[in-house]
Amino acid sequence: MTLTKQEKQSLIDLANAARGRAYVPYSNYPVGAALRTKTGRVYTGVNIENAAYPQTMCAERVAIFKAVSEGEKEFEVISVVTDNGGSPCGGCRQVMAEFGLDTIVLLADRNGNLQKEMTVRELLPEAFTPEKLAK
Ligand code: THU
Repeated sequence: MTLTKQEKQSLIDLANAARGRAYVPYSNYPVGAALRTKTGRVYTGVNIENAAYPQTMCAERVAIFKAVSEGEKEFEVISVVTDNGGSPCGGCRQVMAEFGLDTIVLLADRNGNLQKEMTVRELLPEAFTPEKLAK
């Protein structure tokens, strides 16, 4: 799948706008994500922290869980915006891999500049996927 520059920028801008709604009183590191499904819908997510620190949820997983809970499981692309173009944590990579290794991942910084682009396959080599559980 090929994405135009405008399509990429619009997903980055949606993630960056969502980022303003991150709940990050502890890290002060807001993250925003925007996930586009194969049906063309877009689900955003933000990181949501908790006074019991481990209960924090990452922006990528919020976006993915919102989509799945609405019946969407086929994804095309997810954009992730952080202050500095930081890349998804291991747990989020694993959750992305569950729904397809070909999903494109766009990483952008606070100014909405695309810093890196790759597939989930590249982000998580040798991923453990649902097929591995097949008997
Ligand atoms: N965070 C995300 O939202 N996504 C990631 O992939 C990396 C980390 C959040 C969790 C926490 O709220 C803050 O960034 C600092 O770790």
